[in-house]
Amino acid sequence: MTVKPTVLQELPADLECERLPRHVAVIMDGNGRWAKQRGMPRIMGHRRGVDVLKDLLRCCRDWGIQALTAYAFSTENWGRPSEEVEFLMTLFERVLRQELREMVQENVQIRFVGNLQALPQSLQEEIARSVELTQHNQSIRFTVATNYGGRQEILQACRAIATQVQQGLLQPEQIDEAVFERHLYTAGICDPDLLIRTSGEMRLSNFLLWQMAYAELYVTDTLWPDFDRKAFYQALSAYQQRDRRFGKL
Ligand code: FPP
Repeated sequence: MTVKPTVLQELPADLECERLPRHVAVIMDGNGRWAKQRGMPRIMGHRRGVDVLKDLLRCCRDWGIQALTAYAFSTENWGRPSEEVEFLMTLFERVLRQELREMVQENVQIRFVGNLQALPQSLQEEIARSVELTQHNQSIRFTVATNYGGRQEILQACRAIATQVQQGLLQPEQIDEAVFERHLYTAGICDPDLLIRTSGEMRLSNFLLWQMAYAELYVTDTLWPDFDRKAFYQALSAYQQRDRRFGKL
């Protein structure tokens, strides 16, 4: 790993551990701009972005956060130049292969959400292997959204539920939030409490649309490759100052 946690190994003393988010989601934006600012090709920003994500995962585990979800590739990202898409697919596969041993050792459970069937076969195989080998791990739950789209996720849940109704297995009046959630890719994972988006864009970009209903949103101008533990600490400090009312008084 090239990003070294030289600072903030432990939870900063002014953060209250009982008021940490249980689940943090990240939109890792700004890799291309970070590289461009340095006169480097965009892919260098993605490479550096992987190191930042790895340290954030460790940081969440070190500080007692139970779940981290990262938006690695959206259904819209296929529209990027083919060389960049190919680079990203190869990068995901290589990172998974290289990091699997450490994830097993560090007790990380990895999971993927999205339409995985559309990914290259070799990547699908690497995904299946990493999910299987880490499925019983418990230190942190790490979810990677790959070929993920929130609207598509909701549509496929509707289709699956409609099929059950058609087959007489479910009555329309039995469809409630719990039934719906069981048909989402994220079934069994608690909703994010905090969404962090880097590089200043104020958008959800089709990410976890259902699950984000009550998430606190934190947007920082920091570009993803510069998002270090100090920046994460600032996000958590801001989160702890929020008054989460969930629509109540
Ligand atoms: C957005 O920045 C970033 C991405 C589309 C890719 C993010 C992926 C990683 C960091 C790799 C994660 C790897 C694994 C295995 C989970 P951008 O390219 O849109 O940047 P820009 O807005 O500056 O152009």
